[in-house]
Amino acid sequence: MAEHARQILEGNWLGHATRPSSLLYPHQWSWDSAFTAIGYAHQDQDRAETELRSLFSGQWKNGLLPHIVFVDGGGPYFPGPEVWATEHSPNAPRRPLTSGIVQPPVHATAVWQVYRLARDRPRARRFLHDMLPKLDAWHAYLHRERTRIGSALVEIWHPWESGMDNSPLWDPVLARIQPRDGTAPEHLRTDLRVANPAERPTAAEYDRYLHLVALFRAHAYDDERIRAATPFAVRDVLFNSALVQADHDLTAIARELGKPSTKYEDWARATTQAVEDELWQDGSYADVDVVTGEVLDASTWSRFSPLFAGIPAGDRAEHVLDQLTDAMVEVEGLGPAVPSLSRKDPSFDPALYWRGPVWMNVNWFIYHGLRRYGRHDAAASLRTTMIELARKAGFSEHYHPSTGHGHGGAEFSWSAALVLDLLG
Ligand code: DGY
Repeated sequence: MAEHARQILEGNWLGHATRPSSLLYPHQWSWDSAFTAIGYAHQDQDRAETELRSLFSGQWKNGLLPHIVFVDGGGPYFPGPEVWATEHSPNAPRRPLTSGIVQPPVHATAVWQVYRLARDRPRARRFLHDMLPKLDAWHAYLHRERTRIGSALVEIWHPWESGMDNSPLWDPVLARIQPRDGTAPEHLRTDLRVANPAERPTAAEYDRYLHLVALFRAHAYDDERIRAATPFAVRDVLFNSALVQADHDLTAIARELGKPSTKYEDWARATTQAVEDELWQDGSYADVDVVTGEVLDASTWSRFSPLFAGIPAGDRAEHVLDQLTDAMVEVEGLGPAVPSLSRKDPSFDPALYWRGPVWMNVNWFIYHGLRRYGRHDAAASLRTTMIELARKAGFSEHYHPSTGHGHGGAEFSWSAALVLDLLG
C-alpha cells in the first residue's frame, strides 16, 4: 500500500514540486502541496521540505500565498498565467508565475508535521527557521487583508479559494453574479478534455469563476479595492477552522525556535471566538455571505471542520459529533466515510466533485477531529475505510460514497500522501 502511494507521488514529482494529477492539475497547487508534504514527511524529509520551499517561492510581497504556482513545461491548464496576468500587481513575483488567489491555509500544519517527523534534526531546524517568516507573512496577510472591521473572521473571494470549488454553498452567491467581464468558453477548458465533464463544474459556474478572476485582474489584485468590489465574499467555516489550527501550529513553531508567539496565540483565540459567535447558526456551523449577511446552509462536510481545530467545547461539541455520526455513509463492503455533501441535500450527486463524493482530505480532517475529541473507535473506522478505499479503487481524486468507485483525476497526489499519513 505504502509502496503504491510512493509510486503515485514519484509519478507526479516535477523535480522540485508535486503536481496533484498529471493531466487535470499539471502545476503546483497550494493546499495540495501542503497535504503532499504531510505524506512525504513520513518517508522523505528532503522531498517534504523541497515541496513546501518551492510553493513558498511563489509567495507575494504582501504575504499572499497563491493557489497555483505555475511550473515551466508543466502542461496545458486553463486558466493559465496569461489569464491571471499577475504582472498587474506590484506584489506578485516575476518568476515563478502564479495565480492571484489563495487556498485554505494548512501550510503551518504541514511545516510542523515535517519538522516533527524529520530524522535529520539540525536540517529540520534550519527548515523551521526559514519557514517561520514566510508563514508569519502568509497568516498576517489573511488576518490583515481578508478581514473587515467588526469581525475577526477571514473571507474568501472566490469558490476556488475554498478548495471546494463547486460546493452548493456557493450556489446562491454565484446566482447573483451576471458574468460579463470574463467567461470560460468550453473550447478553452482543458479540464473537460482530460476528465469526465459530468464530474466537473458546469459552464455557468466556470463563467462566474472567470468573471471573478477578470474582476481581480482589473483591480490589479489590490486587496482594498477587491474587498470593496467583490460580489463573492464569504466567511467560510473550513477556511477559518484550518486557519485556527494553523495559528496553533505557528505558535508551536515559534515556541520551538524560542521566538515570540503571542501574536499567533491572539490570532487563534480571536478567530476561534468569532467562529463560535458568528458561524454557529441554528444548531450548526454555517458559512455567512458577507455581501447579504445571509447564512449559507448547504449540508456540507465542512460544518464539522471546527472539530479539526478543537473549536467547539462542551454540549456544542457533543452536538456536532452527533451530527457528524448522522452524516456518515457506508461505503459498500468497506466501512463508514464522510461524504462531501449529505445524501439528504437536494444538490447531492455521488460523482460530482464537491457535491457528494468521498474525498481523502475531508476524511483526514475528520479523522483528526475525532481523535482530538477522544472518539478513537470512530476515527479508527474512518482510517480503515480510507485505506481500503485506496486499496480497492486506487488513489483517485474522489470516490463514489456507496460503491467506492474512483472518480475525477486519476493518480491523485493528496490521496496517496494522506494515505501515507494514515498508515503512519
Ligand atoms: C481546478 O482547476 O479545478 C482547480 O480546482 C482550481 O484551482
